[in-house]
Amino acid sequence: MTVIVLLGAPGAGKGTQAQLLAERLEIPHVATGDLFRAAVRDDSPIGREARRFMERGQLVPDDITIRMLLDRLERPDAVGGAILDGFPRNRAQAQALDAALAEQESRVDLAVNIDVPSEELVERMSGRWVCEAAGHVYNESTNPPQQSGICDIDGSPLVQREDDKADTVRARLDLQLVSLREVIAHYAKAGILRTVDGRQSIDDVAGAIYDVVRGANASTAG
Ligand code: AP5
Ligand code: MG
Repeated sequence: MTVIVLLGAPGAGKGTQAQLLAERLEIPHVATGDLFRAAVRDDSPIGREARRFMERGQLVPDDITIRMLLDRLERPDAVGGAILDGFPRNRAQAQALDAALAEQESRVDLAVNIDVPSEELVERMSGRWVCEAAGHVYNESTNPPQQSGICDIDGSPLVQREDDKADTVRARLDLQLVSLREVIAHYAKAGILRTVDGRQSIDDVAGAIYDVVRGANASTAG
C-alpha cells in the first residue's frame, strides 16, 4: 500500500499534481475538497453541513471530514493506496490518518509540500476553472483547456469554484495557513516530509515530485 500526502496552501497546485501522480502510480487521487463539492452538488446531509464552512473559507469540522475520508479509503480501488490531496489539514486529522493506517499495518509513506508564495496563490485561484464532472483543473493563463469552457479529459463544462471569489480566497489563506504549518511539522517530525518549489511550470513541479517519490522508494527498498 502506498499512501502519499500532497500538502500546500490553497492554490499551490495539489489537485493538478495529485492527478498527474495518481495516473503515473496507478492509484486513486483522493481529494476531500472534491468529495465535499460533490456532496454539496448532491445536496446530501454532508454537503449541506460542509457548505456552511466552505463558503466562509473555514475548515469543515474534523469529525465529518475524517469519517468521509476514511470511508473513501475503504473503497476497493484504494486497496493499493492513494494520493491524498487536501487531507490531512490539521494535526488532529494527521493523527487520525496515522491511527487508521496503523490498524492496517500501514502508514503514510511520504508527504510532499508544494511551496508557493502567497502573492502567487491569489492570482492562480482567480484564473482557475474546474470541470463539473471530476474536478480536473485548468487555468486561464497558465494551463488553458484546448477548447474554451470544456474539459480536455471528459468533455464536461468548466465552472469557477464558489470559494474562488476574492473575499473567500483571502479568508482561506488567512484561516488555513496556520493549520498547514501544523501538518508540515507533523510530517517533518516523522522524517517523511519533502518540499518542492511550486513556482516552477506544472511539468517541472511534476518532475520534482516524481523524483522525490522515486527517492523515497529507493530509500525504503531493501
Ligand atoms: P480544497 O478543494 O482542498 O481547496 P484548497 O486546499 O484551498 O486547494 P485548492 O483546490 O484551492 O488548490 P490546489 O492546491 O488544489 O491547486 P490547483 O491544482 O487547483 O478545499 C476546499 C474547501 O473544502 C476548504 O476550504 C475547506 O472548507 C474544505 N475542506 C477540504 N478538505 C478539508 C479537510 N481535510 N478538512 C477540513 N475542511 C476541508 O491549482 C490552482 C490553480 O493554479 C489552477 O488554476 C491551476 O491550473 C494553476 N496551477 C497549478 N500548478 C501551477 C503551476 N506550477 N504554475 C502555474 N499555475 C499552476
Ligand atoms: Mg484542489
